[in-house]
Amino acid sequence: MTSRTLSEGLSDAISDYVSSNPVSKSNHEDASQYLPGGNTRSVLYTSPFPITFVSAKGITLTSAEGCTYLDFLNEYTAGLFGHSNEDIKRAIQGIVETGWGFGGIGQWEGRLARGICERFGIERCRFTNSGTEANLMAIAVAKVITGRKKILVFGGAYHGSLLAFPSTESQSPLNVPHEFIVAPYNDLQYIQALQQDSTATKDLAAVLVEQMQGAGGCHAASREFLQTLKTLATATGAILIFDEVMTSRLHPGGLQAYHGIKPDMTTLGKYLAGGSSFGCFGGKEEIMRVFDETRSDGGLILSHPGTFNNNIISMRAGCVALEILTDEVLEKMNALGEDLRKELNELCEKYGVQEKMWVTGVGSLMALHFGERKEGQWREYVKVKSTDLGDLFWFWMVQNGVYLARRGFVALTIGHRREHIERFLEVTEEFLKAWGHVLQ
Ligand SMILES: Cc1ncc(COP(=O)(O)O)c(C=O)c1O
Repeated sequence: MTSRTLSEGLSDAISDYVSSNPVSKSNHEDASQYLPGGNTRSVLYTSPFPITFVSAKGITLTSAEGCTYLDFLNEYTAGLFGHSNEDIKRAIQGIVETGWGFGGIGQWEGRLARGICERFGIERCRFTNSGTEANLMAIAVAKVITGRKKILVFGGAYHGSLLAFPSTESQSPLNVPHEFIVAPYNDLQYIQALQQDSTATKDLAAVLVEQMQGAGGCHAASREFLQTLKTLATATGAILIFDEVMTSRLHPGGLQAYHGIKPDMTTLGKYLAGGSSFGCFGGKEEIMRVFDETRSDGGLILSHPGTFNNNIISMRAGCVALEILTDEVLEKMNALGEDLRKELNELCEKYGVQEKMWVTGVGSLMALHFGERKEGQWREYVKVKSTDLGDLFWFWMVQNGVYLARRGFVALTIGHRREHIERFLEVTEEFLKAWGHVLQ
């Protein structure tokens, strides 16, 4: 076993990475002259520079250096179908032939809306260009309809680049200036106490929650917690919004169907347009009717324009995506994810490092954690998270041809098979053999 220290290992790993990826380095330096930080999507930045990819097929990515990686990130869940899925490709090629951007209604948006509403048990929906925009719209609608101002959200939540709440104590300075109450996630007692506090709840417009916090580390809410939120919303007249932008892939009807808890509104995005830009917000007809310009009952009518709301490539790709995603296909992918997570945790136990390295998640989505494990108190983990250990692992995986998010996030696709899972496990085990001593 090597006796090298963590900092020596990290320093060697960074040197190897730099010398293996000269084209990516130069691309990053060139882009940095015009894009601050060399990118236009902060989550993709990774020090000392991110890898530049030039092509992707199935579950592999090819870098500018010509290296091929097994993709375990898959566009942060939007790439659920794998790269260049043949059916989606053909659909997009068809659109390229017939034209896109009509400045008019296309033949696909109504069909996609039907598919989504039926799949997730939503009465009416509208499309946007991103999950961020979907959540912004859902909150705005909730405020208008209730005539109230406060929004209950949770520490660790990510609802988009203008709606980020890394902890109960901090939120992004870029957040939209709503009056947020940032509560602890999965804390039933907090919510029960809040419900008794009529001063806090009388102005409550909405409760916005992920049923599993994705960016926050793949921590799932308990059913009791979600049920308590539903009770709070019902008792106070607030609108319950489930952000299923990431989680809707975890069950054929989304996690809301899995838990059997129906929110007033749902937001969606990511994979649902087959990998093209997409967002969606929807819910009860009595809420969504504010966008019905044909209504004649004298009720409120709000405008929701948006140049690319019905962008034809996304609408068409979305229709095909829903056809591909049968219950069986989805369930198989999620079962494979359950296996990977279980076997990774077993490996951590085998090498006796489970208090410093472990995996959380649901189905095909998971996060590897490095730090001091505090069972049942994941908020504590955030405070003692070890970035160096996580970084060492990331460099190890990437140098061995396995690509995942720097923060340890993994998302499978419908193209992943047992052999790919075994490769992930094998490279992880090699890491544990080489570096298990720094995880003791
Ligand atoms: C739960 C959740 N909501 C919203 C968003 C924002 O979606 P988008 O990146 O499409 O704006 C994300 C993105 O990661 C997300 O995970």
